[in-house]
Amino acid sequence: MRHCTEKRTNMAIMKRIEKAEPRMAKPEEIQKQRTYIEKIRAVVSEMTSPKACVVTYGCQQNEADSERIMGTLCEMGYTPTQEPKDADIIIVNTCAVRDHAEKKALSITGGYKHLKHKKPSLIIGVCGCMVSKADMSDKIKHSYPYIDIVFGTENLWKLPEIVYRTMKEDKRMFFPNLGEPVVAEGIPVLRESGYKAWVSIMYGCNNFCTYCIVPYVRGRERSRRPEDIINEVRELVADGYKEITLLGQNVNSYGKEFGDECDFAELLSRICEIEGDFLVRFMTSHPKDASRKLIDVMAANDKIAKHFHLPVQSGSDRILKEMNRHYDREAYLSLIRYMREKMPDICISTDIIVGFPGETDADFEDTLSIVKEVGYDMMYSFIYSKRTGTPAAEMEEQIPEAITGERFARLIDTQNEISLTKNQPYTDKTVRVLVDGRSKNNPEKFSGRTEGNKIVLFDGDDSMTGNFVMVHITEAQTFALKGDVVADKK
Ligand code: SAH
Ligand code: SF4
Ligand code: F3S
Repeated sequence: MRHCTEKRTNMAIMKRIEKAEPRMAKPEEIQKQRTYIEKIRAVVSEMTSPKACVVTYGCQQNEADSERIMGTLCEMGYTPTQEPKDADIIIVNTCAVRDHAEKKALSITGGYKHLKHKKPSLIIGVCGCMVSKADMSDKIKHSYPYIDIVFGTENLWKLPEIVYRTMKEDKRMFFPNLGEPVVAEGIPVLRESGYKAWVSIMYGCNNFCTYCIVPYVRGRERSRRPEDIINEVRELVADGYKEITLLGQNVNSYGKEFGDECDFAELLSRICEIEGDFLVRFMTSHPKDASRKLIDVMAANDKIAKHFHLPVQSGSDRILKEMNRHYDREAYLSLIRYMREKMPDICISTDIIVGFPGETDADFEDTLSIVKEVGYDMMYSFIYSKRTGTPAAEMEEQIPEAITGERFARLIDTQNEISLTKNQPYTDKTVRVLVDGRSKNNPEKFSGRTEGNKIVLFDGDDSMTGNFVMVHITEAQTFALKGDVVADKK
């Protein structure tokens, strides 16, 4: 997208949103992809121990997509490997949200060039947000000749067709997004975890926050049918899954296409009716759409984890307006007050961007003050990264790195103090923890998460992984709680 046409392009996209009708992939279209899978199976069955490697960058949405990609590749006859050097097909699932994420994905993909020299039959694919726009897909076509397939987020479900055609036609395949997204059900999935599952409830985003590339690379919002989601959750619970995280860029606008039939709060209530011992999480909530009805449903259901991730992005009303966020500081704070009134123990986390174009010292002070006023349990903070094609990239007064760096450090120091203060009252309390296994940073300890999503470290054993245990907290730190297991189950 060229800079000079940016404003007009946004208007055109907004117009299309108003008219957009969600479309389901037709059963015969899904069946066609299954037929391709069968054809690929015949080819792959001739190979000696065919292996597939999927490398993932980005958010949970990408992790969920990668599980579908791996599921599809396994149906084709490949077995999973973590080692790109052992693979016969490598798919890199990319992120575009910040410059750093894009650079990382490109450099790792460059590293696979020598693998292709050694094994010319190796198929290298790149997919996800970074390559969803036609200009990036074209760039790869011209500058990265060793990449065989490129497909945007809207075309993930067509992977069988893409792989088959590159195999049979011996041609490189480029499938960028065309702005015609569908909801495709019945794609195979191979989940990384046996006890925690991602469930996408909707795809895309219509919000066009002025800094954000996501709406341009994930397409327009579209929701899965409630019955498809509920069936998926029911199966997961029957398979022993303990934690289900519902995913969407703005879960609070779930179901808008269905009129009054089922909004997000209603979907959550219906999911909680499924019998079993499991926790439901969700992300992400946009403050402009997070409803009091949703908070009431959370408060009324033990199965919903008492954690709310509510990205504020900035504490300055002026910057929030420039960001196109459609709420102000007071509306945000009033939502937080309601949440705490209904659920006094709720853990709240946020995302914050430092150094949005035009952010003054006073704007930044407003951000620090909202962080203190809310008292977040956790914060994910980002230095603003200019994304070509977004309105903010065109704004004057991009903030110099020296200033953003200093503000960023102050924000983190402020939050670290708050995190410690929020963790201290847990000392001497007993909390329920879903065990993740041995801690990566601290391998002599086991690690798990509370309902509020706080990390807990304790002495454990492998039999606990994937189960709930009760932990008596003995020490509160900034980033974790430490304690002792007191019973196996709640
Ligand atoms: N849909 C979610 C989050 C999407 S991206 C939401 O609206 O909350 C995750 C986070 O990345 C955002 O919340 C924002 O804080 C950050 N982010 C998005 N674009 C960014 C950019 N250009 N520079 C820095 N951070 C960005
Ligand atoms: Fe980006 Fe805003 Fe959409 Fe979130 S809601 S994905 S920040 S445009
Ligand atoms: Fe990145 Fe796409 Fe997620 S841009 S943050 S992987 S939606």
